[in-house]
Amino acid sequence: MKDLGPVAWPPEQIKTERLVLRESETRDRAAFIELLASPEVHTYLGGPRPRDELEREMSGAPEQWPGSFAVDLDGAMIGQILLRRATGHRRPAAAGKVDLGYLLLPRAWGFGYAAEACAAALDWLADALPGDPVVLTTQSANVASMRLAAKLGFTEVERFQAWGAEQWLGMWSPVAPSS
Ligand SMILES: CC(C)(COP(=O)(O)OP(=O)(O)OC[C@H]1O[C@@H](n2cnc3c(N)ncnc32)[C@H](O)[C@@H]1OP(=O)(O)O)[C@@H](O)C(=O)NCCC(=O)NCCS
Repeated sequence: MKDLGPVAWPPEQIKTERLVLRESETRDRAAFIELLASPEVHTYLGGPRPRDELEREMSGAPEQWPGSFAVDLDGAMIGQILLRRATGHRRPAAAGKVDLGYLLLPRAWGFGYAAEACAAALDWLADALPGDPVVLTTQSANVASMRLAAKLGFTEVERFQAWGAEQWLGMWSPVAPSS
């Protein structure tokens, strides 16, 4: 995966009804470590990273790159939305396309925050890279993620076996402006 490349970055803060999407900042470090070290968050993502390793690696601000949004609720980070180029995707239908990923801290699950944040990120992308379709890969057993993908308007391209589980590949296309 590569970052999004030539887009205006960082964007102006993106505000939704309850959330702000913004570039990550030094004050997000603890939340980032919590996110990457959480076994719950990584149930369907190949397992968490060891916390002490993350503490060592992330000495200052979390990595900043075009397409990485911190999701902020009332001034604190509750998760991350990732928009990346799926350069090395194992499915030809997804290779080179923009790929959406989402991770929220468990205490923030179930309130519709992921749907609100992802919809805003997709809106931003539709402006930043007009016409670019977006792909999403998730384990089909990840019910919350599957429901979220459907809610956002992703439709199934195919299912495939990888990393020891069935994976679902979905695609989303921006609505073309009416002429
Ligand atoms: C996937 C994830 C971001 C969803 O976050 P969320 O804030 O709970 O999602 P939302 O509240 O916006 O809910 C989206 C939909 O999923 C449903 N949902 C949420 N948690 C669910 C669960 N545990 N079981 C079944 N459905 C669930 C919601 O009801 C909603 O569907 P609906 O509108 O049809 O009712 C969150 O569970 C997470 O961070 N998981 C770990 C990371 C991960 O697996 N990411 C996916 C791979 S990129």
